Amino acid sequence: MPGGQLLGDVAPNFEANTTAGCIHFQDFLGNSLGILFSHPRDFTPVCATELGRAAKLAPEFAKKNRITLSIDRVEDCLAWSKDINAYNGEEPTEKLPFPIIHDKNPDLFILLGMLDPVEKDEKDMPVTARVVFVIGPGKKPKLSIIYPATTGRNFDEILRVVTSLQLTAEKRVATPVDWKEAKKLFLKGVFTKELPSGKKYLRPTPQP
Ligand code: BEZ
Repeated sequence: MPGGQLLGDVAPNFEANTTAGCIHFQDFLGNSLGILFSHPRDFTPVCATELGRAAKLAPEFAKKNRITLSIDRVEDCLAWSKDINAYNGEEPTEKLPFPIIHDKNPDLFILLGMLDPVEKDEKDMPVTARVVFVIGPGKKPKLSIIYPATTGRNFDEILRVVTSLQLTAEKRVATPVDWKEAKKLFLKGVFTKELPSGKKYLRPTPQP
């Protein structure tokens, strides 16, 4: 730990049974950015709130291939999806804006280093950690986050880092501590003041 996937590795090309049918992971990713996240169990409270939040954020995550990994059977994942939609105040259908992979053996959890060696379930088996891999368009992991099962993730933070990854891949910039998109913070725009030094460090924004 953390994770069997390191920065610079190529994401494995596994075949998996999901709530949206059989997928080949690299085909699923295509040439877009992808997010693979695990959750410990279906029909558990923290996981339900996480998947509910991930579903609510579908418009913000548009054009990013998201998929979550479960130890539970596809039938259970589909039934649980109804609960998640109901929790979100939506029609209780089996459809979520991302598929759920059923990892029955659990080969993928082992391959991807997602089992927590410390935390054990009632059968004394390692519990699945809450892992997030953001995989870049070149199918190489750009970021990994790992939390224990007892701590839910912050999907706004995942969105923030994905936005930063896309920005820093396009432009020669780095985003600082607690960075938030300037466009969202400063709705009237940010301007660069030309200075004798040529350094572009004064960036005023109109009074909100
Ligand atoms: C939960 O989602 O509530 C949960 C799942 C496994 C272990 C601990 C909490």
